[in-house]
Amino acid sequence: MNNAEQIDYWNGEAGQRWAAEDARMARMLQPITAALLDHLAPQVGECALDIGCGGGGQTLLLAERLGGTGSVLGIDISAPMLAVARDKSTDLLPEYASVHFLQADAAAHAFEPASFDLLFSRFGVMFFDDPVAAFSNLKRALRPRGRLGFCCWQSLRDNAWAALPLQAALQYVAAPQDTPDPHAPGPFAFADPQRVRAILGAAGFADVSIEAHTFTMVFGERADLRGNVEELVRMGPVARLMADREAASVARMLDAATQALAPYFSDGALRLPGAVWFVQARLAS
Ligand SMILES: C[S@@+](CC[C@H](N)C(=O)[O-])C[C@H]1O[C@@H](n2cnc3c(N)ncnc32)[C@H](O)[C@@H]1O
Repeated sequence: MNNAEQIDYWNGEAGQRWAAEDARMARMLQPITAALLDHLAPQVGECALDIGCGGGGQTLLLAERLGGTGSVLGIDISAPMLAVARDKSTDLLPEYASVHFLQADAAAHAFEPASFDLLFSRFGVMFFDDPVAAFSNLKRALRPRGRLGFCCWQSLRDNAWAALPLQAALQYVAAPQDTPDPHAPGPFAFADPQRVRAILGAAGFADVSIEAHTFTMVFGERADLRGNVEELVRMGPVARLMADREAASVARMLDAATQALAPYFSDGALRLPGAVWFVQARLAS
């Protein structure tokens, strides 16, 4: 089945972990979300789809911008993440757009044709097995004058918050594959803007714009360096490396990551650069 591996991943232990981390992640990603929403400028009364909506934090921020006459549908494959999203969206103020959530694969779901003004995503579109087929499917849900707008990570190398702890951990364990496929579904699959342009073009989008943005990612909810490193590695590629390792091996990886990240720790928080693409496109005529 298409996207079967991701469906397993986001519904298994990793999905549970992401769901448990949702509130902290929402706080950490808040500056990126605000900048992305400013960039895309959703209009009051518009109808939006939030692709890979996860725990729904950004769905609600989008709903606030769409106002009481708008609507937003959050779609995700992950039951644990959607449970968090549904929990936080009960009793919304009337100034918010109506919010609904759907557990389905955005790559294959039979959306009502031409039903959205905005196809939106915060870090939720890099996980498709066949991105051209997925965006072709999503495109059919877009109204003729509508737009696609999402953010995705630039390369791992440009994201020190993920690269530094990974390099440190790899001193102690082998990478899962010697030469990992840089285009395999995952957080950095859309790092190459040429590839993103090619995917969107092949799926029937035009006027593609891709802007580079850099943010300071703040990991500071624990007082000590080690505590903040433990929280940081739960969301990056090191989490995949640590899964199913024995405690001693995990401790060695954490020690190495702590040493590598020490220069970025001050005033009780780790501050590391995060490099993101803001992508926009319209339907090709
Ligand atoms: C990195 S998380 C981002 C979640 C959320 N957008 C955020 O910024 O907090 C990626 C999300 O994409 C979802 N996802 C992955 N593949 C998907 C697919 N084919 N259809 C719908 N959702 C998908 C995952 O379940 C996960 O919730």
